[in-house]
Amino acid sequence: MHGTVSVDARQPIGMFDSGFGGLTVARATIDLLPHEDLVYLGDTARYPYGPRPQPQVREYALEIADHLVVDRGVKMLVVACNTATAAALPDLRARFPVPVIGVIDPGIRALLKASTTGRIGVVGTIGTMASRAYDKALAEIEPTAEMMSCACPGFVEFVERGVTSGNEVRLLADRLLAPVVNAGLDALLLGCTHYPYLARTISDVVGRSVVLVSSADETAFALAGLMSRLGLQHPDRPRVGRQMFISSGDVAAFTDLGSRLLGPELVGAERWMPSQ
Ligand code: DGL
Repeated sequence: MHGTVSVDARQPIGMFDSGFGGLTVARATIDLLPHEDLVYLGDTARYPYGPRPQPQVREYALEIADHLVVDRGVKMLVVACNTATAAALPDLRARFPVPVIGVIDPGIRALLKASTTGRIGVVGTIGTMASRAYDKALAEIEPTAEMMSCACPGFVEFVERGVTSGNEVRLLADRLLAPVVNAGLDALLLGCTHYPYLARTISDVVGRSVVLVSSADETAFALAGLMSRLGLQHPDRPRVGRQMFISSGDVAAFTDLGSRLLGPELVGAERWMPSQ
């Protein structure tokens, strides 16, 4: 759909995730594009997406995108969730008349840039790893490269509870990341937007010699590049963009943890009721 855009550049950017993880992408976007308005939806009533079957995640992603495009009038969609990108990106692009960007391709590009030895890996949810979306993206971008992958069930749940450090996280990380430690990597992609919040623990486990790569910054750069190519930057620059946050779960809890994770821009959230 990228070539057939007839949307209003004054409208906000739309972004979504299963919960708080996409706030890493929101932070990078606000910092890089401070003049843009942003509507962020965290589907906290239905997280985690990782263990759910792909068709269900796809259905959730399409429903959220419908709300953002039709009810909120967003000019672009950023799928700030690897699991939803893996499950739904082609369907979202086919269904909606706005440009749609995911986190997987930008993440792979950042990973390749960060590695000097070519010994690379990715960690993510069970759903993302099982989809092999990262292997497919790597094969298209750098066909000769090889990458190890490792699912980390349980990491997302810690972040959603606001637990980003401590013994429990460390114990789980030690167990799940043992194959990564043994692989002798020089760069590891955090292939779940929640994982940057656990970066300190992950780094303690895999060692300081492994560069941790987050897709957040690279996604924001890709978004900025696409908006500039399509002429979708807000025309009234300089201006200060507004942010709106929406949650399908408890909005007070979303505001409380969200403001700690994102920063001062998150002062409140609206409720959205998903169909199921
Ligand atoms: N932030 C989502 C991702 O990047 C987490 C998915 C989940 O809710 O399990 O995959």
